[in-house]
Amino acid sequence: MSASVLEVRDLSVHFGGLRAVDNVSFAIARHRITTVIGPNGAGKSTLFNLISGAVRPRAGQVLIDGVDHTGEPPHRLQAAGLARSFQITNLFFELSVAENLRLAAQILEPMAMAWRPVAASRTALARVDELLERFGLTDKAPYPVGKLSHGEQRRLEVAVALACKPKVLLLDEPTQGMSHGDTEDTAKLIKSLSSDVTILLIEHDIGLVMSLSDHVIVMHQGQKLAEGTPAEVRGNPAVQTAYFGHA
Ligand SMILES: Nc1ncnc2c1ncn2[C@@H]1O[C@H](COP(=O)(O)OP(=O)(O)OP(=O)(O)O)[C@@H](O)[C@H]1O
Ligand SMILES: [Mg+2]
Repeated sequence: MSASVLEVRDLSVHFGGLRAVDNVSFAIARHRITTVIGPNGAGKSTLFNLISGAVRPRAGQVLIDGVDHTGEPPHRLQAAGLARSFQITNLFFELSVAENLRLAAQILEPMAMAWRPVAASRTALARVDELLERFGLTDKAPYPVGKLSHGEQRRLEVAVALACKPKVLLLDEPTQGMSHGDTEDTAKLIKSLSSDVTILLIEHDIGLVMSLSDHVIVMHQGQKLAEGTPAEVRGNPAVQTAYFGHA
């Protein structure tokens, strides 16, 4: 087993003349929470798109457990153990909470079972129950997603990403638009997940970043400006200028 579950090397993508992600390298230790911070437009979501296969890098490598998966499509990366949630909610609003989870968990069923009725998908159904419980959504299981509060939808989105039992979970601003209370609850939840899964997070709430992260990566204008412990990053003058807006 490689020490770092996810590693990116010299990753780049350009959109026209814009270097959205420019030569970014880092490695993520297993069962740690690593957070990517940086101003709007720094390239954080694009970095996730490159890692998850949504966008093909122009150069560089993406390694999962030491194996090169560069340029593979999202379903191949998912099979390699990578899952993600999106900055914009990406759920089936007209389906129930349980159905959204079940669709995502269906991948756990052996191929030979794929033709059987959904109700017979025992592994997937057990995973759904486990996630409903863990994410405090058991009472909401039969409701259409459209009826949930924004906070509950964001929480469900994390549960959906986890349904396939990934090794690495990429979360793009999971607390975006949440109330203070929901943000705190989500932070606790994310912390509790890190015993099972390695988490790479994008987050703007700096208090949450400092309390939740084992490691912080700072992006600025497509480049990695700094990385280190939360305290190291906060004390870095270049980071203070670029991100906190003062030196
Ligand atoms: N598909 C695309 N085509 C062209 N430009 C893009 C594309 N995706 C992102 N960009 C540009 O790349 C830059 C980085 O965008 P990105 O969404 O990665 O930033 P971000 O750090 O996630 O910002 P935010 O904090 O606002 O979510 C921006 O200037 C954005 O407009
Ligand atoms: Mg973004």
